[in-house]
Amino acid sequence: MTTERTLVLVKPDGVARGLTGQVLARIEAKGYRLVELRLLHAERAQLEQHYAEHQGKPFFEPLLEFMLSGPLVAAVVEGDRVIEGFRSLAGATEPTTAAPGTIRGDLGRDWGLAVQQNLVHGSDSPESAECEIGIWFG
Ligand code: RTP
Ligand code: MG
Repeated sequence: MTTERTLVLVKPDGVARGLTGQVLARIEAKGYRLVELRLLHAERAQLEQHYAEHQGKPFFEPLLEFMLSGPLVAAVVEGDRVIEGFRSLAGATEPTTAAPGTIRGDLGRDWGLAVQQNLVHGSDSPESAECEIGIWFG
């Protein structure tokens, strides 16, 4: 069975810059299906769970502050191999070097801050997807 669900976030920089529609349009244009969608302000506890793997890293606090800086959009997206497919659409973590054609490569840049503001998040494995969908839609 290759049909999967993934958790996508349009991070606060993407919402603030008015890029939510472009991000969702790219997901839909690729052929994936939106099955849940919410605009919300994250809570610190949600982010501590969501980014638990990064606890203790130098960018952890700046990352939480960034993710708390404004509203974000959470979506559950469905399709065959969508976990891998959305990571590919998003592009590499650093927008400066993310390939043109990707969301981060086309729409993002370095702003000289303590943490990379890179517009979107996508789950990186089926286990992460299940856990993250629970955090944002549980
Ligand atoms: P994400 O989890 O948000 O989808 O991003 P990712 O897998 O591409 O990157 P990850 O390594 O999981 O890092 C999580 C988020 O932390 C910020 N970050 N900034 N050195 C830095 O300035 C730095 N390193 C990581 C980014 O917002 C990254 O997406
Ligand atoms: Mg990650």
